[in-house]
Amino acid sequence: MPAERQKIFAANWKMYKNGEEAEIFIRDMRRTAENCPHELIIFPPSVYLERSATAAKGSPIHIGAQNIHWQAEGAYTGEISAAMAADAGCTYCLCGHSERRHQYGESAEMVARKAHAAIHNGLIPVICLGETLIQRENGETLEVLYNDANASLSGIEADPRLVVAYEPVWAIGTGRTATPEDAQTACAFLRKVIGEKWGDCAQQIRILYGGSVNPDNILSLMECPDIDGALVGGASLYLEKFTKIIRCK
Ligand code: 13P
Repeated sequence: MPAERQKIFAANWKMYKNGEEAEIFIRDMRRTAENCPHELIIFPPSVYLERSATAAKGSPIHIGAQNIHWQAEGAYTGEISAAMAADAGCTYCLCGHSERRHQYGESAEMVARKAHAAIHNGLIPVICLGETLIQRENGETLEVLYNDANASLSGIEADPRLVVAYEPVWAIGTGRTATPEDAQTACAFLRKVIGEKWGDCAQQIRILYGGSVNPDNILSLMECPDIDGALVGGASLYLEKFTKIIRCK
């Protein structure tokens, strides 16, 4: 019997919103969050982590960092450490979002080091991975997921709190969502790969889908047995759309 997994709905705001907009959004979202059976996470820009955490205080809304460095401290201009993110009020952090991997050259090895640093500092990593369009067209999707999942989890001990986000690169910000069948195949495959490393713990891991999620396509994605929530970009910038997504089930 598969484990009952609490769904996660997460908003990745990327480089959008100013501090006031972030605060108002979170304040207005609190009522939805109070009666929500799902776990909710907001990933604001790093300069607004503390302000967002203050706005979310006393509510079930979690705040997460979009990125962290794997070192505890050092001469890394522009970076923040896992401890700094935790100190700002974060409980989660994204590791290896495709925009980091493809625009800033983040390797799977770096992603594993970030996830390690996150866990070491009491943050829960959300490890993101997914194939590019060319890889999909070449029939390499499962191979890419296999290699990336293994490399990104390298050296990390089984931890049921860890979260994985399957985000096919071709679906991010394009309005082109994976079909529920394709997303389910990928997420079930990822669970199998994690199971090879971590055994039964894989049944407790939440695997999210991300890529052009909106209020119209969310329900069919959430009906898939191995999809445990969504990592939402563009649609999460609008409270009305994000609320509809959260309330889909
Ligand atoms: P969109 O929902 O805008 O496609 O972004 C997805 C994403 O990158 C979430 O991390």
